[in-house]
Amino acid sequence: MAARVEVLLGDLFNVIASAVWVKRDAQGFHRGYGQHRPNLRAWFPETERAIVCEQYTAENSRAKADGLLKGQVFEPLRQYLVGERRRSGLKGKAIQDGMHRLTGKRYVFERHAFSASQWEMPTREQYEAFRSLCDQEGDPTGRPYCSREYEELRAEYEELRAEYEELRAEYEELRRPFDAEAGAYFCDTWHYVTVGAHKGKHPCEKPADMARDLVVQCSRPGGVVLDTFCGSGAFLEAAAAAGRVAWGCDMQSRWAEATRERVNGYANVVAIRKIRGPGADAAPKRPQVDLLDWLREAQ
Ligand SMILES: C[S@@+](CC[C@H](N)C(=O)[O-])C[C@H]1O[C@@H](n2cnc3c(N)ncnc32)[C@H](O)[C@@H]1O
Repeated sequence: MAARVEVLLGDLFNVIASAVWVKRDAQGFHRGYGQHRPNLRAWFPETERAIVCEQYTAENSRAKADGLLKGQVFEPLRQYLVGERRRSGLKGKAIQDGMHRLTGKRYVFERHAFSASQWEMPTREQYEAFRSLCDQEGDPTGRPYCSREYEELRAEYEELRAEYEELRAEYEELRRPFDAEAGAYFCDTWHYVTVGAHKGKHPCEKPADMARDLVVQCSRPGGVVLDTFCGSGAFLEAAAAAGRVAWGCDMQSRWAEATRERVNGYANVVAIRKIRGPGADAAPKRPQVDLLDWLREAQ
């Protein structure tokens, strides 16, 4: 089942992780303990999966941000190097072999000096080797090559780097939060104790410590936690308690109400609703809710 859900989600989102929750009760017994073993026809399922996704187009993807930034900020220097290569007429293999011969190193000069996303400032040795290579093996009519002195390039690079670091700090604020140290588990196997029977228990109520860990690991203080299947309200209580802004809904009024009671008294709870849609309680087939409308209305 989890594998099918993961494949379906993968069509819409970038799947980041599929964590396994190994379920135990408070006494440490696993869920299969009470099963009559001779009746089992396969291994009793005692785990659940938490499938974690992000939007494919997330502007906050760190790698994307870094690539974009490098591409933008260091473009003048990259263009200069690309221009010299073009004038010299030297192709990739000739540059690769020549640089290896002149520096004795197998550094992929091609990739770092000329590509936007992996751009790196060449060292003095690399720059001077590239200049000699162009002068010796490049189109003779274009000589001299690389007429800008290394010090001058370096000074421009340092200036651009300051700009790059500033922009990177801004992206850092934007990128998907994940704090591995904030929860009990930083690997994808979890051992939270299941919620024991209690009056009015939601059949799928998740443990409060699991909810807390996920909220604090995956959101920032003051950020919005939206649980559109809030059930018992475990995640929204965790969100409100951790200083996040809690939003939630459930298609059954019973659970929307239970959540409302559970978070009653916490600041930062914006709205808990039974979602709209004809007969959602009675026939929970395809309830319709326009979350954007809802967010607009509640503001
Ligand atoms: C697995 S339970 C959630 C349990 C919850 N995480 C907790 O810890 O208590 C799923 C909940 O989603 C609600 N639900 C199912 N389909 C829904 C839908 N399409 N829209 C809104 N709520 C839905 C159900 O009524 C149920 O309460």
